[in-house]
Parts: sequence; C-alpha cells; structure tokens
Amino acid sequence: MKKNFLIPWSARSHNLNNFEISKIVKILKKGNVLTQGIWLKKFEEKFQKFIKSKGKAFGVTSGASAIELAASLLRLKKEDEIIIPSHTYCATALPFARYNCKIKWADIDLNTFCIDVNSIKKLINKKTKAVVAVHLYGSPCDILTIKKICEEKKIILIEDCAQSLGSKVHNTHVGNFGDFAIFSFHQQKNLTTLGEGGMLIVNNKKFQKFIPGLRHNGHREYKNKKKYWIPAMVDVYKDLDGVTPFNFPMTEIQACSGFYLLDRLNILNKKRNLRAKKIINSLKEFKFIKFQKIEANNYSSYHLLPAFFETKNTNFTRNKFIDLMSKKYGIQVIIQYHPLDKYHFFKKKYKSNLKLKNTYNFYNNMFSLPFHVWMSEKKFDYMISSCRNILKKVNYFEE
Ligand SMILES: Cc1ncc(COP(=O)(O)O)c(C=O)c1O
Repeated sequence: MKKNFLIPWSARSHNLNNFEISKIVKILKKGNVLTQGIWLKKFEEKFQKFIKSKGKAFGVTSGASAIELAASLLRLKKEDEIIIPSHTYCATALPFARYNCKIKWADIDLNTFCIDVNSIKKLINKKTKAVVAVHLYGSPCDILTIKKICEEKKIILIEDCAQSLGSKVHNTHVGNFGDFAIFSFHQQKNLTTLGEGGMLIVNNKKFQKFIPGLRHNGHREYKNKKKYWIPAMVDVYKDLDGVTPFNFPMTEIQACSGFYLLDRLNILNKKRNLRAKKIINSLKEFKFIKFQKIEANNYSSYHLLPAFFETKNTNFTRNKFIDLMSKKYGIQVIIQYHPLDKYHFFKKKYKSNLKLKNTYNFYNNMFSLPFHVWMSEKKFDYMISSCRNILKKVNYFEE
C-alpha cells in the first residue's frame, strides 16, 4: 500500500488566513469567556442571515449532535419509523438508533446520488414519523417533492445539510425546507470551525424553545434566590417528558472562526464549482463516467467530487482505476459510503433483508477524487491528466 501520496485524500478542506488566525488568538489571549459567549450569538445570527433562515440557528459541537437534538425532540416510540437513505455517512442515522424506533432504509437515485423520492413513497406508512433527506456531496436532493409528501402525510422532515452549506434550490438555501436542518463544520467540510462543530436550524417554531435547555444540561436560573450562592448556581429543568438534556455548545473560538469564514464561503464554493466543471468537462468524452447530476435551478456546494464508473459495458473495473491512480500517479482516490444497512451495527439492530439496488450498485462502482480546496492548480491539472491517461485505455461498448 502506498503511504506517501502525491495528492492525498486530505483530512482538511481549507486553511485559515492570517486575519482569521489573529481573531482566534485574540480570544485565546484575552477572552474572559471561552464558551457560550458573544461569538456563539454572533455566529448564529450571521449563519441565519447567510442561509436566509426564518427559523432559529443553534451552534453545537458537531453535525451529529445537531441530529441528536432533533432526534430527541421527536420522542420516538417503539412503533415509530424513520426513513433514511442507506447511502450517507453513518452519523445521519446513529442518533435515531439510540431510540427504540425502527430505521427504514431508502434507496438512492443513480443520477443524483441522493435519496430517491420513489423509494421514500414505497416506505411511507402510518408509522412513519420522520424522513431524513440528505443533500449528499453538496448537491440538493429533490427536497421540494419530499417536503410536499411530508406535509401531506404530516411527517417531520429533517434536512441533513452536513455537506451542503451554500447549496441552493431555486435560489433558496438548503436548510430552509425541513422542520429541522443540520450542518456540519467537521474538518473536511466546506467550512470548518477548527475541526469540529455544527449548526442546528429549527424551522418548526414549536420545537425552538426546547433547544437552549437541551443543548446545555437543562440549565436555568433559580427563581427567588435567597443569596447568590443559595440554593446553588443553577437549577436543572425537565423541558420534555422522557428527554434528558445534553451538553453540546460550540466554543467561542470555534464560533469566531465560523463567523469570519462565512465571509469567504461563497468564494470557496465558487472555486469548487469551477474546478468541478473543469474536470467534468475534461472527462466528458468518457461516456462510462457519470458525475452527480445537478438539477437545473439548483446550486451545489461541490463538497466532494464523486463519480459512477459504469463498468457494465467496459473491459475495466472501478478498483483497477483506483489502483492505477494510486500506484502509477500517487493520487489517493477513495470510495464512499459503505451502505448503512450493511454495517455490522445496523444489520444487527434491524435485521433487514433489503435489496437497495442502486445503493449497492453505486457503492460497488463509485469513486471519489480528492477535492480539498487548497490543492494547487498544478496538482489539480495533474489529477485530470492522470484520470484521462487511464480512462483512454478503457474499451467501452456502447449499447
Ligand atoms: C452526511 C453527513 N451527515 C452528518 C454528518 C455528521 O457531522 P459531524 O461529523 O459534524 O458530526 C456528516 C459528517 O461527516 C455527514 O457527512
């Protein structure tokens, strides 16, 4: 196995500039408050404005903790069912698995690589409590249709926007369609708040008031305190029956980094778009390589650059392609995501015997190119020519 790749799959998507670093250092040196202070408020307000949200934004420790908070508010019972695509990162589903409900795995659309509306329709029944719609790899799923279905059936809609900050549907930012939406600022995301971080958007007003307590150990001031130290610092409140609070607030330096990075996000996303278009164009003669279809009127944040290698009518395999990219050109291409229904954890818990044709087909034939935004133009062009050199050798028999 090659260890030192010329173009590795980077753990980090973008860097901080000197101005951003100086702001963070200032808090480290002089900040009296390191968590739940003014920067968290400032970042939440700016984020809300950035995505033009009519809901409320809550900064949290990760995308997973944002999902965790949303899941806790559904007060799930044994008979409840949650529809989630099998093709996504495991954190989309894990918070729901903590409860005694059932996860129903949906298939994907082979053109958009996102959750398939027809698969959702087949899974919906009276027990369906929520649908988690994932805007995967930066590209919006068919959220307008999914929203319509959920409204008709009175089902909660959660948008997983972990990979799609800045993505839009008809000029509306993702995160504005569901009852809840979550964003991730993990190190590989288009915007990272120093490695970890997340944002929960609560559009459904009836849930908003529960988040501050649930996010921070149920803390409330005691009423009628006799002395500042009696009975103690804070009371712990029960906001909802059966829901125990968490401790998920984002720190001040994370919030500060997010606050300033938001000013650069559109530029970073534009660079991703230009590069994605360049590589897609450069490989378009290879009919057996299919990139993610971005529907007209949608905008993708191009978090990643996955492609489906339609090996069916070729003398080649996806694995051979990845191997050659690695061994001959030093480029670390990877595959994503192991179908969730096949994970040991979920397989044991839900014991399903599913046939998610597109999900499995995609998983067996997809590849994902390194796509960190700090990759040099020279290396990016080298990656394109390396792909071309390999793909030119593939024999394709058109049907
Ligand atoms: C689709 C998706 N959902 C949820 C998450 C969870 O986000 P975090 O890593 O911030 O917990 C991720 C992050 O990798 C993700 O890609």
